[in-house]
Amino acid sequence: MSNNIKSILKETRVFSPSAEFKAAANVNDAVYQELLAKADNDYVGFWSDLAREKLSWSKDFTVGLDDSNPPFYKWFTDGELNASYNCIDRHLADKSDKLAIIFEQDGGKVEQYTYQELHAEVSRFANALTTQGIEKGDRVVIYMPMVPQAVFAMQACARIGAIHSVVFGGFSAEALKDRVESAEAKMVITANMSVRGGKSIPLKAAVDEALEKGGNSVNTVIVYNRTDDVIDMKEGRDISWQDAVAGMSNYHDALMVNAEHPLFLLYTSGSTGQPKGIQHSTGGYLLNAHITNEWVFDLKDSDIFWCTADVGWITGHTYVAYGPLSVGATMVMFEGVPSYPDAGRFWQICQDHAVSVFYTAPTAIRALMKYGDAIPNQYDLTKLRLLGTVGEPINPEAWMWYYNIIGGGKCPIVDTWWQTETGAHMIAPLPGVTDLKPGSCTKPLPGIDAKIVDEAGQVLENGDGGYLVIEKPWPSMVRTIWGDDDRFVETYFGMFNNKYYVVGDSAHLDTDGNYWIMGRIDDVLNVSGHRLGTMEIESALVSHPLVAESAVVGKPHEIKGESVFAFVVLNTDIPEGEERAELIQTLRGHVAKEIGPIAKPDEIRFGSNLPKTRSGKIMRRLLRTIAKGEEITSDTSTLEDPTILEQLMKD
Ligand code: WTA
Repeated sequence: MSNNIKSILKETRVFSPSAEFKAAANVNDAVYQELLAKADNDYVGFWSDLAREKLSWSKDFTVGLDDSNPPFYKWFTDGELNASYNCIDRHLADKSDKLAIIFEQDGGKVEQYTYQELHAEVSRFANALTTQGIEKGDRVVIYMPMVPQAVFAMQACARIGAIHSVVFGGFSAEALKDRVESAEAKMVITANMSVRGGKSIPLKAAVDEALEKGGNSVNTVIVYNRTDDVIDMKEGRDISWQDAVAGMSNYHDALMVNAEHPLFLLYTSGSTGQPKGIQHSTGGYLLNAHITNEWVFDLKDSDIFWCTADVGWITGHTYVAYGPLSVGATMVMFEGVPSYPDAGRFWQICQDHAVSVFYTAPTAIRALMKYGDAIPNQYDLTKLRLLGTVGEPINPEAWMWYYNIIGGGKCPIVDTWWQTETGAHMIAPLPGVTDLKPGSCTKPLPGIDAKIVDEAGQVLENGDGGYLVIEKPWPSMVRTIWGDDDRFVETYFGMFNNKYYVVGDSAHLDTDGNYWIMGRIDDVLNVSGHRLGTMEIESALVSHPLVAESAVVGKPHEIKGESVFAFVVLNTDIPEGEERAELIQTLRGHVAKEIGPIAKPDEIRFGSNLPKTRSGKIMRRLLRTIAKGEEITSDTSTLEDPTILEQLMKD
């Protein structure tokens, strides 16, 4: 990033919290100043006090931060606790009859679970896991639709100290296989079908395909029968959820574990081919999950919180499966899609369940905004008091629509910046404190030491774009990449010799100290708020016998943020006409099979070669320009064969 990037976005509108919101907020100006001062004066004490205040420990810790072996930081090292106990058991004394989960099925049927019922469901399943031979430290892959049983399964793993690795139900058998093998999982928990948008999609069949070639350590598959569809069950390996919990006790004594015991792995895309198994801890992770629900979502006992993210992503971990439960909130879970049976579904759910705090992705907001104001205006959205976004920068136009049409001009919007690796919100407004600017995630939360630096690691405060980094370790930070400590150090700390955690995004500051995220600095695409590695998609394309080489770049997309644009070199001549159209469909289908439909290239263009430097490096910068349909004005003199560009520019 030489010649530090200049930002072109100029947003001058400012939205301050109302006096009413300020007065009731969990964090008001005074609390905020106190938190900032404390974090400044006594960083470790700040986190340690919060950890003791917000979480229940079976054994107190004596060490706040262990930084003896950077960048392998440990928090609350000798303390002991259980995440599921913190999410459920500790609420039973005063909230046993409070609703924990309000679940709406794709077809509209509603199920509710109180904290007491949640305790029973999770306990039964924890007992079932133990009966099936799962022990502390074993890895369990959860490949489930968006149903409460996915949360029960995660919580049950946490209860017995097993490490879950949730694989998004939209990933293919091939992607599932890689993750099962990498984690050396002993068990897969799945469902017979996933029901979305009025259709049943086989899920267990993908598990069978992933496991059929062997080479894995899975010996049990638990299948939740979401529908009446009868599926193949493999004798000796498969057992239905319903059979597994039959006769199990409603009581389970949560196993206390060390604060650093891994709570879960979550695989995410990086700039190289193999997804990374992001490893999170128990104590540190839960602390940031807890406080951000309190601080950023301002959750109160009376709130109904709805985070629309799937449990397959980090957002569905921190703001569905753990955080809201840790603070004892009531949350909505929804199985389906925003467009079924029509584009009013989200708003209908907000109305019917009196949702007060709503959290979704800019891509969903942009898609729903296209249908106009009349649809949301049909619903009573007056219970909403706070809105949130995550996953990608939100464009000011979508922000304004969300603010005015959904929030009725009275709900603050918390634009939350964070990552799978950070575990919880890092840069985000405090709704009772922060002045909002559409498109900015505003300021780092108390205790989060974010900075923007140039290539030499010098802090930039003049508004120039640079690398977003976090200097001091924080409790919920990634502990390592599962099975690959070297890659962990290299990926996140290599650039500045362990001085900073390097986020992988570029950002700039405005004169009020607000952060503006500008995009990724590595080869990662952000499609509808989902991280996809260009290398992963390239590897998938090249695994097709007709493909010799490929390069994938992102193209700006009105709704999805970025779309996938693939340049492909074939082993054969480039076909014409219908044959070419067919090949494009075949290759798109191939990527869907290898990774999942979300990674399908929107466009594929064939060439007899890719633009490379004389040293053989693909010039992605040029490919990005071509994908956008823009003229190449930059220097192409280092290209090995400049005629390639003309060929690639033609559709
Ligand atoms: C992007 C999702 C701008 C960013 C929680 C980050 C954002 C990546 C925002 C992490 C936001 C997330 N504004 N960009 N509010 N939130 N991002 O791991 O590029 O799926 O590095 O975690 O999403 O994606 P991940």
